Amino acid sequence: MEFVRLSQNGRVAIATLDSPPVNALSAGLRRDLLAAIRQCAGDAGIDAIVIAAAGRAFIAGADISEFGRPPVQPILPEVLDAIEGCAKPVVAAIQGVALGGGLEVALACHGRVAAAGAKLGLPEIKLGIIPGAGGTQRLPRLIGGAKAFPMMLSGEPVSARGALELGLVDAVAETELLAEAVALAERLAKSGGLPRTGDRTDKLSAADREAFEGLAAQAGKSSADMPNAMALIEAVRAAYTAPLAEGLAQERALFLKLVVDERSKALRHLFFAEREAAKVPGIGAAVKPRKIAGAAVIGAGTMGGGIAMCFANAGIPVTLIETQQAQIDNGMNRIAAIYDMSVKRGSLTQERRDQRLALITPAVGLGAAAGADIVIEAAFEEMGVKQQIFGELDAIAKPGAVLASNTSYLDIPTIAAATRRPKDVLGMHFFSPANVMKLLEIVRPTGVADDVVVTAVALARELGKVPVVVGNGFGFVGNRMLEQRTRAAERLLIAGALPHEVDAALTGFGFKMGPFAMADLAGNDIGWRTRKSRGKTAAVADAICEAGWFGQKTGRGYYLYPEGARTGQRDPEVEALIAKVSQEQGVTRRSFTQEEILARLLDPMVNEGARILEEGIATRPGDIDVIWLYGYNWPAWRGGPMHWADGVGLDAIAARLAAQAAETGDPALEPAPLLRRLAAEGKGFASLKAAAA
Ligand code: CAA
Repeated sequence: MEFVRLSQNGRVAIATLDSPPVNALSAGLRRDLLAAIRQCAGDAGIDAIVIAAAGRAFIAGADISEFGRPPVQPILPEVLDAIEGCAKPVVAAIQGVALGGGLEVALACHGRVAAAGAKLGLPEIKLGIIPGAGGTQRLPRLIGGAKAFPMMLSGEPVSARGALELGLVDAVAETELLAEAVALAERLAKSGGLPRTGDRTDKLSAADREAFEGLAAQAGKSSADMPNAMALIEAVRAAYTAPLAEGLAQERALFLKLVVDERSKALRHLFFAEREAAKVPGIGAAVKPRKIAGAAVIGAGTMGGGIAMCFANAGIPVTLIETQQAQIDNGMNRIAAIYDMSVKRGSLTQERRDQRLALITPAVGLGAAAGADIVIEAAFEEMGVKQQIFGELDAIAKPGAVLASNTSYLDIPTIAAATRRPKDVLGMHFFSPANVMKLLEIVRPTGVADDVVVTAVALARELGKVPVVVGNGFGFVGNRMLEQRTRAAERLLIAGALPHEVDAALTGFGFKMGPFAMADLAGNDIGWRTRKSRGKTAAVADAICEAGWFGQKTGRGYYLYPEGARTGQRDPEVEALIAKVSQEQGVTRRSFTQEEILARLLDPMVNEGARILEEGIATRPGDIDVIWLYGYNWPAWRGGPMHWADGVGLDAIAARLAAQAAETGDPALEPAPLLRRLAAEGKGFASLKAAAA
């Protein structure tokens, strides 16, 4: 056997799964596990079997990369039937994680012991599917449907202790996992009669069913747009109404339907893209990160304060620096208020709030950055300001400190040139609110030291962020593409659409907000200031700002917000203003369908994404998708802009762009060479191989 090692402890066989890195249930592992069970079942010298694991996971679940391909025998349900039906007791010794198919293996066993640090869960819902190897049938039988259903609906794992309380495991092993599992196996072998999860009905009482139906009714409303949540309800209900074999067949049918759905494909694409994005091309594993024991953040505005909170939340001491006492006081008050809100909502204890605040040291003057291993500048977005700060930091920061700018647009080498240590300087672009948004664009200019890049990636992980390393270039990846969408939205207004129609196209697509509601929330003056500094104009957006309609904070923007309302109402004055701009530009306004609006908003973004790939600013199309998922709330089940484009077909997108370029005379809308080439070859972005990983 290639992936399972068999050994013996007395009359108990130990089948150790060893398929690095996480024992995903590939065809090979399934084959070997089944062979191990059969071999032990037929061995007169063996009374019981323990399934244990080498490495950091018991089993991370089905091998996700096999989904959507023709099934390879033996399929997992067959392996589980052999385990549950085995005449000798089989006990799972769970360490690390038992997720998805991994927990389903454990459920089919006759006993389960978990190491104290283990995590157990059925996260399939996050991949757009439901458990497909008995999870929906065996978990309710073991712990009751009213407890099993929410666990599967959230997909969140439970701790070993939590699992014990639920009755999901028989014992928690503080130190000797294998010894306890062997002892349980021996006890079961002597007890005669095996506890088979599939045979149990005791937890599926009328009261439990009633509680489950209540939860199902709630989920039916709140998750109506999630086909897998609806399928989950149906499958769990079968646990009450049908015998095991029938319930398993129903579950399998639902699973097979969901797994080929585009939504699940998109979610799986993102799962792998996120992991791939963390791999930095051209830097080997031998390059180690520098040690980060303390940090400094320059600028205590919304962004700087949020970044300081990221450090405090991760337990890393951070000095928050401002130029004046009043400003640092304001910054600290804002941070305290955010933590207080979390305490009020119950997501943070008072004790942790105090601990976190104590990790943030307020200071006035750059001198306070002297002891930091990393300094992140989050000052005013102006090159002169940044250069001055970095020039001063050069004299203050300790040798070897990483110097990062949080700029969202500016040229990192120009900032680095203000120091005598450009090898230590890179961009770390957080997204607002920095303490919430998971994306971190790590901007790698040519000339930065490899270990500085690796340090930023490792730190991002420690801060709970999703790092994506990108190249240097105006707006990097995310904002550069966003600019295309913003321009497209303005163009649509002038051509005949209204703000609420444009926003509706994007919310209909799955975004939480459209561009105009978003601009009103963020403040229209921000974009106005940026345009002015770059000598750019946008007729409608500028006119809105000239009228002083900056958005929610002024009570009106693209929409009206009477009496502090959070949702905007249509504003006839804005609509008249837009019509006037169309007239001034000699445009005959026309109506647009929601599909047309969507295409006009997203196609230019995809086009820019293609240019970004051509220029090597992003390494892989998947990196762009991850950036849009975690930085801009792209709907996960749509897989990101490049994945979406592949689904539409690049030939269709190229043709639409060419038509728009001809209509508007805007060369930026001409299909990018890469897009043209892939379209002509009938390929998608997914066909591109990563540049030397
Ligand atoms: N299938 C295939 N590959 C997997 C995998 C899986 N289930 N789980 C992890 N991997 C791969 C990752 O892609 C990654 O590969 P690379 O090193 O090549 O990038 C590697 O294993 C390590 O993964 P992480 O970088 O994520 O490592 P981690 O230590 O941070 O996290 C983990 C480990 C918690 C197991 C995490 O990988 C995870 O959550 N995995 C997915 C778990 C899951 O969703 N399981 C359910 C699968 S669906 C199912 O089981 C259906 C069913 O009912 C039969």
